[in-house]
Amino acid sequence: MIVSTTLSGLRRQIGDWKRRGQRIAFVPTMGNLHAGHLSLIDRARNHADRVVASIFVNPMQFGPDEDLERYPRTLEQDRSALQDSGCDLLYLPDETDLYPQGLDAITRVQVPGITETLEGENRPGHFDGVATVVLKLFQRVQPDVAVFGKKDYQQWRMIEKMTADLDLPIDILAGETVREADGLAMSSRNQYLDSAQRALAPRLQQQLQWVSEQLRNGRRDFDALATEAAKELRQSGFTVDYIAIRERRELSPPSANEPLVVLAAARLGNTRLIDNIEV
Ligand code: PAJ
Repeated sequence: MIVSTTLSGLRRQIGDWKRRGQRIAFVPTMGNLHAGHLSLIDRARNHADRVVASIFVNPMQFGPDEDLERYPRTLEQDRSALQDSGCDLLYLPDETDLYPQGLDAITRVQVPGITETLEGENRPGHFDGVATVVLKLFQRVQPDVAVFGKKDYQQWRMIEKMTADLDLPIDILAGETVREADGLAMSSRNQYLDSAQRALAPRLQQQLQWVSEQLRNGRRDFDALATEAAKELRQSGFTVDYIAIRERRELSPPSANEPLVVLAAARLGNTRLIDNIEV
C-alpha cells in the first residue's frame, strides 16, 4: 500500500493509474477504523481496479462544543488494517494543506434542503463542513466511484445530491451499516461509553426496529409513533435529539406510499449516537 501525504504525490500515482485505464474507488474516513469502514473498502474493491482511502479528522465539520480534540487518532493501527484489507493507496492530507488560509477564509459548499433537518438542525454547520471537505477530496483523488456508509444516512444522501447538482462524474455507492453482535452500530464514538451506557446503547437500534415493525404492520400515524418511541428511549436513560420517520431521498416527512427510513440521534451522557433503519 502506498501512503501519500502530499497532493503532488497523490496526483502522480492517480495519474499513473488513470493513464493505464484503471478505475479508481475512493473511501474517505476520519480514521480509527473499524469493521464498518473496512466493509466499505471491500465494497470499493468490487467496483474498481484501485482503492484509495483517506484519513483526515476534518475540523470544519465539528461544532465548537464537539469532540474534535479528543476524537480518537490511531494511525498505525489504521494503516495496517487498510493494508490487510487490500487498499492500494492511503492519502493523509493535513490541515494546512487542505485549508491553507484557515477555516474561515475558504469557499464552503452548502447543499440545500436535505441538510436543513435532523442532523442539520442539531449540528449547525456540520454538513457544510462535510460537503466542503468531501468535494475537495473528490477533486484531489478524482475517483470514478466513492463509497459511503448508510450508518450516516443523511450524509450519504447529501453527498449523492451534491454529486448530482455539481455534475461530478462519480458514482456514489452506499454500504450497509455494520453492527456489534448486540445490534449497536459500530462507531468510533462507542468507545466513549462507560460500561452501563454501553449496555444500554443497543436499545437505540431496538427502538428503531420496533418503529419499523409498527410501520410494516400498517401504522401511519407517523408523528404519534415517533413520539412514543422517543418517550420510551427517554425512559430508559437516553437524551433524545430526534427520532423521525422520513421518505428516503430528501428525508422529508412522508406523504404517499413511498419507501421509508426511520432515523434517530440520542445521547448517553456526553456521547451522541446515531442510527437508522430502512423500512
Ligand atoms: P467517518 O465517521 O470516519 O466514516 C467514514 C465512512 O464510514 C462514512 O461513509 C461512514 O458512514 C462509514 N461508516 C461509519 N460507521 C459505519 C458502520 N458501522 N457501518 C458502515 N459504514 C460505516 O463520515 C465521516 O467519517 C466523515 O464525515 C467524512 C465523510 C470522512 C468527511 O470528513
